[in-house]
Amino acid sequence: MGPVLSLDARFYTDPLIYKKELRGVLSQTWQFAGHVSQLDTTGDYFTFSIAGENLFCVRTSENQIKGFYNVCQHRGHELVKGSGNAAVLVCPYHAWTYELNGQLRSGPNIKSVPGFDVSTVCLTEIKIEEFCGFLFANLDPLAKPMDEWFPSVRRELSSFVPQIAQLKPIEWVEVPEKCNWKVSVENYSECYHCQLNHPTFANGIVNAKTYDIQPQGYCLRHTTECQNLDKMSYPIDVNANEYAGHYSSWFLWPLMSFQVYPGNVLNTYHWRAIDHENVVVWRGWYSVDGSDADMLHSLAVQDRQTTVEEDIHLVESVQRGLNSRGYVPGPLVVDPQCGVKSEHSIQVLQQWMRESVNE
Ligand code: FES
Ligand SMILES: [Fe+2]
Repeated sequence: MGPVLSLDARFYTDPLIYKKELRGVLSQTWQFAGHVSQLDTTGDYFTFSIAGENLFCVRTSENQIKGFYNVCQHRGHELVKGSGNAAVLVCPYHAWTYELNGQLRSGPNIKSVPGFDVSTVCLTEIKIEEFCGFLFANLDPLAKPMDEWFPSVRRELSSFVPQIAQLKPIEWVEVPEKCNWKVSVENYSECYHCQLNHPTFANGIVNAKTYDIQPQGYCLRHTTECQNLDKMSYPIDVNANEYAGHYSSWFLWPLMSFQVYPGNVLNTYHWRAIDHENVVVWRGWYSVDGSDADMLHSLAVQDRQTTVEEDIHLVESVQRGLNSRGYVPGPLVVDPQCGVKSEHSIQVLQQWMRESVNE
């Protein structure tokens, strides 16, 4: 058995593959929708989109968080825009009015229609799960719960970030990349390129030699030892709790990753696929009640100027290369011992990518 080959270029360049993904993997997986702090009180809502579908989340009168397709069940107008608070949801087209739980309540003159039973009309619901304060949506009504997709991650994240339930987003950095979403996700999921391309990352906080990435269900778990904690650009108390001196990250297939820096500092990567050759990466930074805002802001700036900037050039060059007639998929460097100079994580990821379009 020879080496495993990387995926054919068409996986990253063919609009038809992307179309298949929209109906398949992108609408049958758990994807980041927003944060629970956006829905503090009854009637709070926000819109978002997944797999090209316009959706929204709302806190109902029963104090539940629900998600719906953002489409009126009369003749299809969009129901809500942006974010806000509402006692009931009123469609701007003909003023059909829905309860916050999606049930149709009333509409002008609908009582005149013989046999019209409002209780039979309801917005189309989607699955929503709260995961350590983060809201995830899945367009597959039969989707298994996140704990089955990502075993132990909820518990591990809560241990690495003891304050996770009180966190709120305080900083978002938007990074457009001219490449297929899978190029960016693959780049995130190996550290074979780190030593050469990320001097700050590889020679700074983490001891790159100990970096490893292993599957845990449909999560790719990154672990490494830290070093030079005294040289950190922000103060940390390594004795504050069990994981205060640790770095770890959890990539949740296909488009989200939680990273924890020493000092229990949580930050996220959230990829949004735009089309077959464009993706936007959102870097999110969180704190309790806006504390440490200055420190997190300078971390976000430093991260944007170093690791993120370095990666943009890599992934955009790869996308150009995948469009070249001269590219033949090369062998992956899968070291049976795994470790930082191995692409075993890419092998796993590309297997998920193949399965997601049934190839
Ligand atoms: S389309 Fe919404 S009320 Fe007519
Ligand atoms: Fe990188």
